[in-house]
Amino acid sequence: MGVDRGEQLVGQMLRAIESELQGQIRRLGGGKAKSFHDMLAYHMGWTGRGGHARRAGKRIRPLLVLLVSASVAGDWREALPAAAAVEILHNFSLVHDDIQDNSPTRRGRIALWKKVGIPLAINAGDAFLALANEAALDLRRRFSAETVVDVAGILQRACINLTRGQFLDLAYQNKTSLAIRDYWDMIDGKTASLLSACTQVGALLGGATKPVIDQYRVFGRLLGLAFQVKDDILGIWGDETLTGKSVASDLVERKNSLPVLYGISRKARFAKHWRASLVRPEGTDQLRRLLTEEGAYEYAVAHAGRLTGRALTALRSAKPHGEAGVALVQLSERLLQRQY
Ligand code: IPE
Ligand code: IPE
Ligand code: MG
Ligand code: MG
Repeated sequence: MGVDRGEQLVGQMLRAIESELQGQIRRLGGGKAKSFHDMLAYHMGWTGRGGHARRAGKRIRPLLVLLVSASVAGDWREALPAAAAVEILHNFSLVHDDIQDNSPTRRGRIALWKKVGIPLAINAGDAFLALANEAALDLRRRFSAETVVDVAGILQRACINLTRGQFLDLAYQNKTSLAIRDYWDMIDGKTASLLSACTQVGALLGGATKPVIDQYRVFGRLLGLAFQVKDDILGIWGDETLTGKSVASDLVERKNSLPVLYGISRKARFAKHWRASLVRPEGTDQLRRLLTEEGAYEYAVAHAGRLTGRALTALRSAKPHGEAGVALVQLSERLLQRQY
């Protein structure tokens, strides 16, 4: 019963998120720059050919904002501009990330940079960033100037940490002597910083007290760490038709993901192959096999499970209310089991 109502609420929220996102991105206007708006709409999964039903993305960040806001008894509709802001910020990071990672596909379709070229894709990513900041300012219709500044501060800090994490991710590609502990700092920045900003902002806008806001922040951070570990797993062992992303890309680009760092630490056959040669797309099957044989898959799965468990403990200590609270637990569990 509670679960069904939770699902209904999530469906309602997803529809409201999509319409808020479209309104925010329409700000770019049309006229001579119509094809500019089209680029952003393509990336958001609203227009253009190809792909599958998941081309719009999971929208988990805005869902977290709204569900947390509702779970502290706030009116989630008032938080919609913040929900749009975090999703637009996320999409800014994806457009640039695909260029940085040389990734040709995103959400089962041609990545924006492959479609329109790098210069225009960089510009579209910049537009997403500015639109995200503008969306957050719309909170002033319902909240005090002080609250809006607090939210803007949380988003800017998340953004700084995200670029710091991206820096580490890119800098690590040239390193062969990284330890597993170097990994956590990197994903804390590139992924967990934005997820923890989502839960923090949701709690703040819902009217939670400072200690409760902090518990939600911790929940978001741990969920974010688990989320990236799972993304690393899917990046090697996932089904491309479901993830919509290449399963060769991370290995070919020499990403020091958690399974890879575990493989290196074992100092066995995987480590030898990884060190010895350039990874070509044809060679990724063998590397994947070695990682599996040497236990890297199980190691990463165990970490994702433990982190999700810790996230759920933090969530419980925040005492989320009602169907939104039920939906938050469900969402956390589903993210761990997800195939895309
Ligand atoms: C992908 O995020 C990038 C990471 C931080 C791992 P998502 O898996 O949330 O991407 P979409 O928006 O659902 O496509
Ligand atoms: C995730 O980067 C973090 C950001 C995009 C900021 P990844 O490079 O690990 O994510 P995918 O696998 O391309 O989505
Ligand atoms: Mg990346
Ligand atoms: Mg990437």
